[in-house]
Amino acid sequence: MSATDHFFAMPTHVIGKDIPRVDGRAKVTGRAHYAADNVFAGIVHAYGVMSTVADGRVAEIEAAPVLALPGVLGVWHHENFPQLHRSPNEMKSGTRVGEVRPPFEDDRVYYAGQFVAVVVAETFEQARAAARRLRIRYAEAKMDAPVTLGAGEDARGAHAPEGHEDERHGDADNAFTAAAVQVDATYTTPVEVHNPMELHATVARWSGGKLEVHDSTQWVVGQRKSLAAVLGIDAEDITVHAPFVGGGFGGKLFLWPHTVIAAALARETGRPLKLVLERRHTFTTVGHRPETRQRLRLGATTDGRLVSLRHDTWSQTSLVHEFVESAGSTSIAIYGPPDATVTHRVVRSNVGTPTPMRAPGAASGTFALECAVDELAIALKQDPVELRRRITSFDRDRKKNLPWSSCRLAECLNIASRKFGWERRDAEPGSMREGGEILGWGMATATWPAETGEAHVRVQLRDDGTARVCCATQDIGTGTYSVMAVTAAEVLGLPVEKISVVIGDSSLPTGPISGGSMVTATVVPVVAQAARAAIGSLLQTATASGAPFAGQNPDAVAWDAGILRASDRAAGGGDSARGVAFADVLRSQRRAGVDGEAKSGDNAAEKTYSFRAFGAHFVEVRWDPALARLRVARVVSAFDTGRIIHRKGALNQIEGAIMMGVGMALLEESVYDRRWGRVVTDNLADYLVPVNADQPEMDITLLDEPDPHIGEFGAKGMGEIGITGITAAIVNAIHHATGRRVRDLPVTVEKLL
Ligand code: MOS
Repeated sequence: MSATDHFFAMPTHVIGKDIPRVDGRAKVTGRAHYAADNVFAGIVHAYGVMSTVADGRVAEIEAAPVLALPGVLGVWHHENFPQLHRSPNEMKSGTRVGEVRPPFEDDRVYYAGQFVAVVVAETFEQARAAARRLRIRYAEAKMDAPVTLGAGEDARGAHAPEGHEDERHGDADNAFTAAAVQVDATYTTPVEVHNPMELHATVARWSGGKLEVHDSTQWVVGQRKSLAAVLGIDAEDITVHAPFVGGGFGGKLFLWPHTVIAAALARETGRPLKLVLERRHTFTTVGHRPETRQRLRLGATTDGRLVSLRHDTWSQTSLVHEFVESAGSTSIAIYGPPDATVTHRVVRSNVGTPTPMRAPGAASGTFALECAVDELAIALKQDPVELRRRITSFDRDRKKNLPWSSCRLAECLNIASRKFGWERRDAEPGSMREGGEILGWGMATATWPAETGEAHVRVQLRDDGTARVCCATQDIGTGTYSVMAVTAAEVLGLPVEKISVVIGDSSLPTGPISGGSMVTATVVPVVAQAARAAIGSLLQTATASGAPFAGQNPDAVAWDAGILRASDRAAGGGDSARGVAFADVLRSQRRAGVDGEAKSGDNAAEKTYSFRAFGAHFVEVRWDPALARLRVARVVSAFDTGRIIHRKGALNQIEGAIMMGVGMALLEESVYDRRWGRVVTDNLADYLVPVNADQPEMDITLLDEPDPHIGEFGAKGMGEIGITGITAAIVNAIHHATGRRVRDLPVTVEKLL
């Protein structure tokens, strides 16, 4: 029996239980320190000056009047900024960046809101005041630079991106033409912005050629390597700290200009330096979810067999960097009939470089796909749940042609539809009324890859009776502290309060990026192994000469929830019979602690299985035609994300993602001014996000069944899956309420009138 089987069979004592967030108290009492909370003696403040044109050149910067202002230490721009380098921009080597062009590389302006200068002053207010007075003259500034995809399939300059080959199986076009029932529909999604609560911020300090960076980042290890590449110094000379991050959603995965600027100017000024982006800056210079256009063609037989699928996608990228929103990435995997085609095209625009945003590709892609499946159900006069039961590939990934490692999507559909009361649905749009309101019921499938990355974990058993778990990953609000603490507590048999978790520091043993929903699945098995290795070290110490179990074979001493006992009680008397607390063993040997370490290995099962998480959303909207009021009233969802490690954090991820889906469906849209290419909704008054009053009633079921192949305990990640499918479920419900099929997000009430 392998260790894995053993743990599946065991009832857990803290894993999956209702344990409060271990970092909750620090957060609500203000003891949790975020990047911008770092204040050092002599710190100076930088403030960005952003381009007001979307295309052109910086012709002149009138620095002299600004340099004379109180407290101003300098104005930097393309003519005097310290020399920088380009990062290799590879995920594998940890050098992937948000924008390959380093700030101030030349005088070119590629988008409105690009850094064109930065002012450093003694105080934040002085820096901001000076930045606002800096006059910049542009040359060759073009009006009407392209900032949107443009209409039509032959969208201007669309090209096939590198590394995204068209997927062509059989002959989708012929099969479509021959299909008895056809859906051919085009959907669009606008630019969306991550808008984490915590603004992007960097505090940089140099001493003796070493750089210390406090950064709001989802990847301390990557930030260190990419920053080293850009600054042209050794990664060993940089330490990146991010013990707490107030949300990222993808916007803080990679290195963006402000972090580079803070590090370079801290060196230049010889002072610790802080750079906090204003909210409006975060609409342009730290990535966004790009605009997409997606054409779905589904062909079916009259009895509802899917015979053709074609998903063609176009998305925006910038002029300086190619980012692909892989909106077609799930379609074939889940539904792929033998005749299927998926294509991705990108269009360069004068906008900041897009970046992953929560479930990149899938949030936008499942919107189009799951709406198209709903349209197909209507065309077939079939129930959309029944149709999904018929066309979903529940046994294997049809893109990779591998069996799923586990897939309980059918149960998700069954459980959520039953709890929702779907059987009472009258399929006729507008037919379900309650008082003055019309009820709309819609549903969709959710799915996201269940990936794992690399981790190296150290668990230390300490002479104060606690255990410390260390890894250079980070908690971006998603519950990683709690996940690691309960895993260590589970294996060690110690109370969760006795576990401290140290993460968010690039000098710790390497850990995964907080992206792609892979931290939990990556670190849980490695924390467990490292905890057992620490027990092994302790047993060695306990049996050394002069120790409580001196002379005994370590194998003959058992760890029992922090107490060591001789397995064969007869072998010794006294201590060995009574049991000795591990802290006493350490103290008796004058040891502060012992370590156990473990590293993730390659998961060989990846060659034989495809790993994915699954779920289903059922949504009730209420439409009041007299008031033109639309609300998402109720969401019932069920998820198969493997074993649940930290229940509260897990539910919180799904609830938060559903809320983000409400925003995506009804509210969120970055609007660009066509003449100057500026974002006009660059604040939280104009860029609408859902608030507490928009929160639907939620009923979330977590199946909590371990995946047998992903690693010990069988946990799949769940940071992103909740936002997949939800937008389609809402839009499908709106169709059911109103009879209107809106294919362009967000569904504002104007589109329903
Ligand atoms: Mo996620 S978009 O990988 O932070």
